[in-house]
Amino acid sequence: MAKPKKRYVCQACGSVSHRWQGQCPDCAEWNTLAEEAPATVFSLKHDLSSGGRAVEFVDLDKPGELPTRQATGLAEFDRALGGGLVPGSAILMGGDPGIGKSTLLLQAAAKIAREGHGVVYVSGEEAAGQVRMRAARLGLSDAPVKLASATGVRDILTTLGTMSPPRLLVIDSIQTMHSDTIEGAPGTVSQVRGCAFELIRYAKETGTAVVLVGHVTKDGTIAGPRVLEHMVDVVMSFEGERSHQYRILRALKNRFGAVDEIGVFAMAGEGLEEVANPSMLFLSGRDEPMAGSAVFPAMEGTRPVLVEIQALIVRLQSGATPRRAVVGWDSGRLAMLLAVLESRCGLNFSSAEVYLNVAGGYRLSDPAADLAVAAALMSALADRALPDRSVWMGEVSLAGEIRAVAHGGLRLREAAKLGFSKGFGPADVKQPGKELDYCGLKQLANLVDQVITTE
Ligand code: TYD
Ligand code: MG
Repeated sequence: MAKPKKRYVCQACGSVSHRWQGQCPDCAEWNTLAEEAPATVFSLKHDLSSGGRAVEFVDLDKPGELPTRQATGLAEFDRALGGGLVPGSAILMGGDPGIGKSTLLLQAAAKIAREGHGVVYVSGEEAAGQVRMRAARLGLSDAPVKLASATGVRDILTTLGTMSPPRLLVIDSIQTMHSDTIEGAPGTVSQVRGCAFELIRYAKETGTAVVLVGHVTKDGTIAGPRVLEHMVDVVMSFEGERSHQYRILRALKNRFGAVDEIGVFAMAGEGLEEVANPSMLFLSGRDEPMAGSAVFPAMEGTRPVLVEIQALIVRLQSGATPRRAVVGWDSGRLAMLLAVLESRCGLNFSSAEVYLNVAGGYRLSDPAADLAVAAALMSALADRALPDRSVWMGEVSLAGEIRAVAHGGLRLREAAKLGFSKGFGPADVKQPGKELDYCGLKQLANLVDQVITTE
């Protein structure tokens, strides 16, 4: 009988080699090849005598058995989830250390427990006493949350097996968990993946919603090379600047809802407060208009949010390479916009340093921000304020055309509600209520005529 060949499988990309190598020949990662047992192939007889069991099929419209979602008691959390926790789902909650993940989950856990549902909160990072101290500070001590400080997944699952499955299980954090059936220290890829697998299986079997807290590494990925993102149903990211009060909860992946809804919170002395109407948050609240500042009516899911964009241009005397720095927007997009402003509108930024900042620690992803950024840049360059109480929206193409935006009418309505009186954007925006004085623009060059040369 032929000796089974050894096989080495890359743990990053799955490619198979027949000898060990330091670098994977396919994905070029280092030290990822590991020996695995040769795959055994069974020749299957396609009848039940092979030892397989028949699986049960159901119709998509089978009545009466749809799981009902569990509200977390925090409307902003529910909104980001797409309407509450789905029973049996696994949710990964990522975010920088200290951003407020534990606080948010403790608040949600307490609310669900107060409604009379079972809730288990396992902390692998803090002692039970520390979590209780935080609960006391948040005024949640009376909530019947079952709290444990543990890191062994087998112990946790054994304990859960002796009681009726809770509605919610929080694991804070997955990187501190370990399973004694897997080699490696807590936090390694195989441990994180193995522990998550066990916990997710518990969720699917019992209908408990499981939230796994995950730390984020410096480059913004959830530690444990993205393996967790494939395994869970929902990936949420809790974002914000630690020096600012506001926190945004985003769904990056959601098997049960839209991914463009956000939840907005403010970190206060008594924990996270919900911000039901966030449209004013990211405006500086200044009264008189200033050069270099433009207001953009952004859309976050179904909600408009008004954001102030600030630009600063510093002329350089020497021939040094000018700096371009961006906070809260894409630097590649800024470079593109500067190129369009130079080549289509004849503006000269080549010997100037350009700084762009989105106020309030907000991060813009809406492509319709282009026009507002362009207006802020032009205004900074000309050192002249934009028209008072104006908002700007529209995507700018490489040819300098101003393209249509989604939900234009909704954005303008929100701006009007907050006291803005003028809107600039693409030509074809429908404004049913005519709340704003609106100026449709075809080309970025038209804006130069209106903003820079006339006033
Ligand atoms: P925490 O939930 O521990 O963050 P994470 O679990 O994401 O690491 O939040 C810690 C921060 O929140 C800490 O810097 C203090 C701040 N905080 C408040 O400002 N108010 C509060 O009521 C609480 C509980 C925390
Ligand atoms: Mg924490």
